[in-house]
Amino acid sequence: MTDTGRIDINVCVNHSGEMLISVSDTGIGISEQDLPNVLKEFSRVEDQSTKSIEGTGLGLPLTKMLVELHGGRFSIESTLGEGTTVLSYFPASRVIEQAA
Ligand SMILES: Nc1ncnc2c1ncn2[C@@H]1O[C@H](COP(=O)(O)OP(=O)(O)O)[C@@H](O)[C@H]1O
Ligand SMILES: [Mg+2]
Repeated sequence: MTDTGRIDINVCVNHSGEMLISVSDTGIGISEQDLPNVLKEFSRVEDQSTKSIEGTGLGLPLTKMLVELHGGRFSIESTLGEGTTVLSYFPASRVIEQAA
């Protein structure tokens, strides 16, 4: 079986200097009721199709904590069966402009 799917990663800095990193996939999605759970440490959502995938349940909560330690915001938008977008916003005060 060949899996097909797409992951888009975008980084941009808006007019107020805030940086947004967006990671979007066309994967299985996360249900609304599971969203709060996947943000808890060591919490994983498993069903027949995903139980063979190994993980620790730390990816999302650690990312959220790191973004928030920078004073930023972290959010997940997801539709079951369609895909997921994870948004990490960093405040302008944490963005260093590359020298020309
Ligand atoms: N992009 C995604 N699409 C669908 N489900 C996801 C996605 N990212 C995470 N999940 C769900 O959230 C759970 C926790 O994710 P995460 O914190 O990254 O830990 P891990 O990847 O080690 O399981 C995963 O087990 C999975 O069920
Ligand atoms: Mg993960």
